[in-house]
Amino acid sequence: MIPDSFIQDLLARIDIVELVDAYVPLKKAGGNYAACCPFHNEKTPSFTVSPAKQFYHCFGCGAHGSAIGFVMEYQGIGFVDAVRELAGRLGMSVPEDSSPQAAPHSETRQLTEVMARAAAWYKEQLRHSPRAIEYCKKRGLSGEIAARFGIGYAPDGWQNLQAIFPDYDTPLLKHAGLIIDNDAGRRYDRFRDRLMIPIINPKGDIIAFGGRIIDQGEPKYLNSPETPLFEKGRELFGLPQARQALREKNIAIVTEGYMDVIALAQNGVGNAVATLGTATTPTHVQKLLRQVDRIVFCFDGDTAGRKAAWRALENALEMLADNKSIGFVLLPPEHDPDSYIRDHGKAEFERLVTQATPLSDFLLRELALRCDLTSAEGRAQLIYEAKPLLLKLPTPLLRLQLVKRLAEASGFSQGEVERLCELKSYATPAPARAKRSPPSLARNLLRLILHKPSLAAGLPAALLPDTPERPALLRLKACLENSGGASNYALLREQLRGQPEESLIETAAAELLDLPFDEDEADAEFHATLEKLKGSADMRRFAELQMKAQQFGVAGLSAEEKQAYIQFLTRKPPATP
Ligand code: UTP
Ligand code: MN
Repeated sequence: MIPDSFIQDLLARIDIVELVDAYVPLKKAGGNYAACCPFHNEKTPSFTVSPAKQFYHCFGCGAHGSAIGFVMEYQGIGFVDAVRELAGRLGMSVPEDSSPQAAPHSETRQLTEVMARAAAWYKEQLRHSPRAIEYCKKRGLSGEIAARFGIGYAPDGWQNLQAIFPDYDTPLLKHAGLIIDNDAGRRYDRFRDRLMIPIINPKGDIIAFGGRIIDQGEPKYLNSPETPLFEKGRELFGLPQARQALREKNIAIVTEGYMDVIALAQNGVGNAVATLGTATTPTHVQKLLRQVDRIVFCFDGDTAGRKAAWRALENALEMLADNKSIGFVLLPPEHDPDSYIRDHGKAEFERLVTQATPLSDFLLRELALRCDLTSAEGRAQLIYEAKPLLLKLPTPLLRLQLVKRLAEASGFSQGEVERLCELKSYATPAPARAKRSPPSLARNLLRLILHKPSLAAGLPAALLPDTPERPALLRLKACLENSGGASNYALLREQLRGQPEESLIETAAAELLDLPFDEDEADAEFHATLEKLKGSADMRRFAELQMKAQQFGVAGLSAEEKQAYIQFLTRKPPATP
């Protein structure tokens, strides 16, 4: 554990503008700095850095954080490494707080350590197994690629992991998915005699393994179960390794298999990732479209591959934008991307990717295969099947294109297709940033505290209405009490990492960017807002008492309530200036 006080010192000595500018040249824009966002592709800058508050925020993709967060996200490294890196630049040495009072490692962190230790051991075992090495060679993998993907080998045997985990009985090994308890209460290693392929998250932590049987056997791949570290539908295999190539090519190739990604990389195509034995989910698509403008799904040419492509289409629609595109490559039936690139080479594979079938063509072609377009019934069915897909599409331009083509294919007019599919008008909703309703009182308090954290000390918990801002305000107050008063948002920010209120607080902090409070007016505005809150709390209380008095008579009120009620009744109205 790195002590909080060190993080605070570090952040106080770093200037986020200088830091970010070294990676992404910034331009001054009012009181802030702006650039095109390094975390998603864009042509007009929506990435903003606040020198006053020492944080960055992207209005396009929502990336947000302090200097530490920037280094983590930009370099794809973990918190501790980012702190080390920044400290190194400032010539500060990172203290390790190893006192027993230090917060116990969270389970996630312990699991990550367990996975890292297992992966290192599997890698070591690969070097000692001629059979596993031979298998890699047979599949065309070089030592360099094996190292890049962290490939290892789990030797045959039931309890090999005992060698590195003397406490083989610890529940952690089970939570990590590395061992199995059988009905007779015996524990054994989940992975035996398999090539071990680690699945790595963007922070660089190993969160799961895929284990391939050497040569023949069932199941061909044995995967880690879902664990606190690993949720299948969210993760993509090969994403951290592909990062650089994704940025360069601005295209992500999505395949179905571990070995597809590895073989493509081996043959010079670095921008491929794989879903993990599941259908492509909207989360997968969203993650990729944050990094690139185009996704090309490249699946096997068999029936299963076509089905997978259709599922991918269904799940991608809702994540599309007019500046993003999707294409499909269905390989010849006997091939998967691995075998195809090995047989035909990089250039030929890249040609297929360049000539991928556009989403609109693929969609119409598949629907046309299901409906007999020579009959009136079939043409009606086409529109029936297209409707739910069109309704998912948030992109007005592509939707209009599809409507036109559906009209052609079905014989309906464009207007009829729109009416039949109950499509709303094509007015694009104004970007969220353009118009804002005036903030609620609680929201205003939240913004003021993010602007000037010391104000939180004067926050009366009892007055706060029951809105989503309430837990956020209380969390900030508690953070400030713990830290002995942080002076700006960036310092607070690191204490909020992983808290449930984090995202609401990020949004409120982003609102500050184009609404700078005047330094001197913050106190006055804070107190005025509290007065208004108190006013509305009083009104609620008065209304309650009045209702009770009407229902049960004044005698129905407790002594305390009676006193309060009389006070309300006899109070002078507030003086109008
Ligand atoms: P494939 O059966 O197409 O395998 O499964 P593959 O990727 O071509 O594997 P190789 O080339 O024979 O080694 C595609 C993906 O489905 C998942 C894996 O993620 C695999 O990469 N899968 C497949 C499993 O999880 N378990 C299995 O038993 C089979
Ligand atoms: Mn294969």
